[in-house]
Amino acid sequence: MTMVREAPDLATLQRRAAERAAARAGGADRLRGHIVCDGLVRIFTTEGVEVVALQGLDLVVDRGELVAIVGASGSGKSTVLNILSGLDTPTAGIARVAGFDLLTMSARKRLRYRRHTVGFVWQQTGRNLLPYLTARENVELPMRLAGRGGRAGRRRATELLEMVGVGYCADRRPGQMSGGEQQRCAVAVAVANDPEVLFADEPTGELDEATAAEVFTALRTINAELGVTIVVVTHDHQVASQVRRTVAIRDGRTASEVHRTARVGADGVEELVTEEYAVLDRAGRMQLPAGFVDALALRDRVKLTLEPDHVQVRSGEERGTP
Ligand SMILES: Nc1ncnc2c1ncn2[C@@H]1O[C@H](COP(=O)(O)OP(=O)(O)O)[C@@H](O)[C@H]1O
Ligand SMILES: [Mg+2]
Repeated sequence: MTMVREAPDLATLQRRAAERAAARAGGADRLRGHIVCDGLVRIFTTEGVEVVALQGLDLVVDRGELVAIVGASGSGKSTVLNILSGLDTPTAGIARVAGFDLLTMSARKRLRYRRHTVGFVWQQTGRNLLPYLTARENVELPMRLAGRGGRAGRRRATELLEMVGVGYCADRRPGQMSGGEQQRCAVAVAVANDPEVLFADEPTGELDEATAAEVFTALRTINAELGVTIVVVTHDHQVASQVRRTVAIRDGRTASEVHRTARVGADGVEELVTEEYAVLDRAGRMQLPAGFVDALALRDRVKLTLEPDHVQVRSGEERGTP
């Protein structure tokens, strides 16, 4: 393990994460579909009222990827993360993580999955760390519970804290650390047992912008150094611009994706190119961005025309009828 002091650019981090992930998986051809959601449905029933939190969500994340999920409050982000981390079970559809089938796995397998395969960082700093333990002890704890404490555990805890940039907090308790320091420490705790996947639900929700950026730097470093697959929910679009792929969820469905790819320009300088895609499901459905719908006052039905290399969408309102 090496500690990253300088801030390497996004492309370098991406490359490193892919290399580490390939090493973990036993080959670059084993990276596809580390996380797969297909037509995922989650219906909550409370007092006879049904809430469809997820209505056929599709998502594929490759091993070693760092993906941000964005979306308005109530769009289903936490529901997806709770399902993927094994805390909640879906109503229907497919949800697979690292070879585990989250719909059919036994209680015993689920426990093993939650202990060894996934790590989690919550929004509330207080939920991630034990207040009466120091940062280092907090990171050591999950290793101890897994029977891997001792000197090696202590060394790994120190290394992980340095990796996320809070090595200087090793002997402090959470109460003696800032919110951002606590969340970075929480990232170290979450990866202590070397999980394959790390989920973080709005880990920067209670932090200011500058502090949030530090937490994201920690996540990127962990992704690059350990090759762990990371899915992070955030409402912070500023922060979402720091990852290669952002998935937008609207009304319990994957609505669009923004991809950033590194390209070498004519002047030989590497630049990041941003492209936005609408997500097309297997039934051919897609969601038009709200801005497009508003701009043309589209509603109820639209007219589609197939052109040689694209599809035209026009208002279905009949115009000019006397
Ligand atoms: N345990 C639950 N019981 C009933 N409804 C729920 C429950 N959890 C979430 N919901 C509902 O599901 C929808 C999605 O919630 P959530 O996944 O928490 O959204 P987000 O994290 O994007 O804000 C919301 O309408 C929410 O009220
Ligand atoms: Mg939420």
